[in-house]
Amino acid sequence: MRKNIVAGNWKMNNDLEASLKLAKQVAKKVKKADVKGTKVIIAPTFVNLERVARATKKSKVKVAAQNMHFAESGAFTGEVSAQMLKSVGVKTVILGHSERREYFGETDEMLAKKVDAALANNMKIIFCFGEVLEDRKSGNQEAIVESQIKNALFHLEVDAFKSIVLAYEPVWAIGTGETATPDQAQDMHAFIRKTLTDKYGAEVAESISILYGGSCKPNNAKEIFSKKDVDGGLIGGAALNADDFLAIVTAF
Ligand code: PGA
Repeated sequence: MRKNIVAGNWKMNNDLEASLKLAKQVAKKVKKADVKGTKVIIAPTFVNLERVARATKKSKVKVAAQNMHFAESGAFTGEVSAQMLKSVGVKTVILGHSERREYFGETDEMLAKKVDAALANNMKIIFCFGEVLEDRKSGNQEAIVESQIKNALFHLEVDAFKSIVLAYEPVWAIGTGETATPDQAQDMHAFIRKTLTDKYGAEVAESISILYGGSCKPNNAKEIFSKKDVDGGLIGGAALNADDFLAIVTAF
């Protein structure tokens, strides 16, 4: 059975004090709510990862990085490697977020290398992709999503692929307050699962968690998560408030 996962992407928000405060609040509320069957992840900025990882070590909350470089080390000013993340207790990384693609020029090709580097270091990956509004309007969304997945992931052998979590995030819904309708999310997630089935077979496709992201909030999470092929969410804005985040975590 595939896992339900709710991950909070804090983006470039929260200094050290605010990060520790929010992380501790989330850990406490997850414990109090006795959350079972849903994996909870938070992703602070690089500089706060170590302290947040330490502060949440004994809790059920796992910590993820928002990005990493594909090289092991070297002359890459400003970058962080998988090995460095692991050395501070971080075993999960978000790759391919649309903001990385749009503002920092990340391509499918670079992402394929990042995926390989993360897997070579036994890290878990939350791999993001999704279409922009223009593609949705022209009905091109499935072709775009399919190519993003194929280009960055389909070189993987089946055993490696099994450890990936996918996050479908329509770019037009990120931070805009506009969400995909639960049916739009379900249609795309079913399409993604079919694409995985064609490549890796039904058993593998059924085992992969596919998260939805894009203005997922306490008031819409329940309906979106009730869809058959939606296995949780990647949450931006609503992850910055512990109560809102918990309401989403407990929406299953
Ligand atoms: P949002 O962000 O929930 O603020 O729309 C989602 C994301 O970027 O992962």
